[in-house]
Amino acid sequence: MSNVNERIIGIIDFVRGCYEAQTRAFSAFEYEYLRELILKNKVTSVLDVGTGEGNFISGLAALTPDVMYKAVDADPELISSAREKHSAANLSFENILFDPAFASGNFDLITARFAVEHMKNVPEFISDAYTKLRSGGILMITEYFIDTSYAGNSTWKLFRDKELEFYHNIGSHPRISLALPKYLKDQGFCRVESVLRHVSPSTVGYIDFYNVIRSYANLYSAIEPGLWTEGLRQHILDYCDKAHADVTDREDVLFISQTMGRKP
Ligand SMILES: C[S@@+](CC[C@H](N)C(=O)[O-])C[C@H]1O[C@@H](n2cnc3c(N)ncnc32)[C@H](O)[C@@H]1O
Repeated sequence: MSNVNERIIGIIDFVRGCYEAQTRAFSAFEYEYLRELILKNKVTSVLDVGTGEGNFISGLAALTPDVMYKAVDADPELISSAREKHSAANLSFENILFDPAFASGNFDLITARFAVEHMKNVPEFISDAYTKLRSGGILMITEYFIDTSYAGNSTWKLFRDKELEFYHNIGSHPRISLALPKYLKDQGFCRVESVLRHVSPSTVGYIDFYNVIRSYANLYSAIEPGLWTEGLRQHILDYCDKAHADVTDREDVLFISQTMGRKP
């Protein structure tokens, strides 16, 4: 049985808008962080696990043209679209499951962006990644972290609560970020470190920020219409439309974690 949550496979028309909005909103700080990591560590080969439509990794490949990228995903439709959308000499896409049978190895860097939250067995993935890195190689996991405790108003609280419920309903991990440092350590990685990024109108701009929220509302209601009813979806979309004018001291915020470790 595959390690990937089947609920997110084969639904390209639902996920596309969300993956694009996430790349637009979060990539500015992610690209800078990863570019520095790549240059500082003289990385020449990267494997991106769970690349989706390749939106994020193609941008990174363009910023680091001397690095060779292999980007894989278990979803055939996403990979076929990735090939159509992003063509670059240093980037190849493959429709393959990353599991113990995965043939290539000796990578300098393995990245997984918003992919681990949808894996059934995260320690197993981290152990597989360990075996596919060269000695001194780096595993870098970027994840979403759903915080329901901080909310400046009842609609934002509702959005976060329903988001959390959505993740539980489909069998994905809304707070895997908190477990990742220990998982990396347990699987033999050293120099483990993790940061949480604040993604808010102040850090990424309110247009990109609320476009991400809109895309989440649309995605959640397409996948779980019983929980994310049409009324709830519309309530969140209306909230996003008014959010700029209604801004208070307690702005809305999402958290993204970046967790990394090195193979000794
Ligand atoms: C939420 S998407 C993220 C896409 C992309 N990384 C991005 O940031 O836009 C997660 C993807 O990971 C893929 N995935 C998860 N585990 C995988 C594995 N073990 N092997 C291959 N693909 C995997 C899923 O098929 C899904 O398309």
